Amino acid sequence: MKRRHLVVMGPPGAGKGTQASRLAENEGLCRISTGDLLRAAQQAGSELGRRAEGYMKAGELVPDDVMLGIVGEALEREECARGAVFDGFPRTVDQAAGLDRLLERHGEKVEQVLLIEVPEEELVRRLAGRRVCKNCGKLYHISFGPSSQEGRCDQCGGELVQRPDDRPETIKRRLAVYREETRPVLEFYRGGTGVTVIDGDRPIEAVAREIRDARDAIGTGP
Ligand code: AP5
Repeated sequence: MKRRHLVVMGPPGAGKGTQASRLAENEGLCRISTGDLLRAAQQAGSELGRRAEGYMKAGELVPDDVMLGIVGEALEREECARGAVFDGFPRTVDQAAGLDRLLERHGEKVEQVLLIEVPEEELVRRLAGRRVCKNCGKLYHISFGPSSQEGRCDQCGGELVQRPDDRPETIKRRLAVYREETRPVLEFYRGGTGVTVIDGDRPIEAVAREIRDARDAIGTGP
């Protein structure tokens, strides 16, 4: 069976994680978030985690060969048997070309690229106010989506923390890296698969609806 693969792109804080989780669930695909995989490696204290830590704290990209290795492994997981939603990957033109090669080996390709666009001032607000459950990873925002008990996760009671790269200086650098290294990936896809632009500067439900419409429009929904 040929698998189906979708790419969710956008600047830091655009809502890629929020929307990619829903999309993966709706379509019965796995979600491959390279940021989450790197953070899990750090928590586990693995060699990969140690290697990635400095780059992530500084808001820089982890080298392409490392990322392609991680994604290649993740794609072999049982839960990806029907395909994947890529969240935060590819982030460079070399990663995009590498992903194409990886999929070609199985006679597969990227089906749709969804780009979530949000103005920069709003991104900064979202990232600075984001809190994450240390235990289950559920996302909150201190103003737009707070937990009912301050500092505690509604889902599992875990402690809510700020990501080390959500501090103001690092946010600035991550946005610059996006402009310089990731924006060119859009040109790569515009020359082939195409890019569907989603207005991410609206409430989460409205963005999710636009994504569903964009999936229906190409006639490949679940
Ligand atoms: P990664 O974890 O991928 O971070 P990112 O791309 O900077 O994106 P974020 O997770 O910050 O934001 P998001 O778009 O997922 O938004 P979210 O849904 O969380 O990468 C981290 C680092 O890892 C990188 O800097 C790099 O070092 C390394 N890395 C990862 N992948 C790599 C790769 N491929 N190559 C090299 N290095 C790599 O939402 C943000 C907040 O806003 C939340 O609080 C949420 O609740 C809220 N929110 C979401 N949607 C809305 C909405 N519509 N309205 C209001 N609030 C909203």
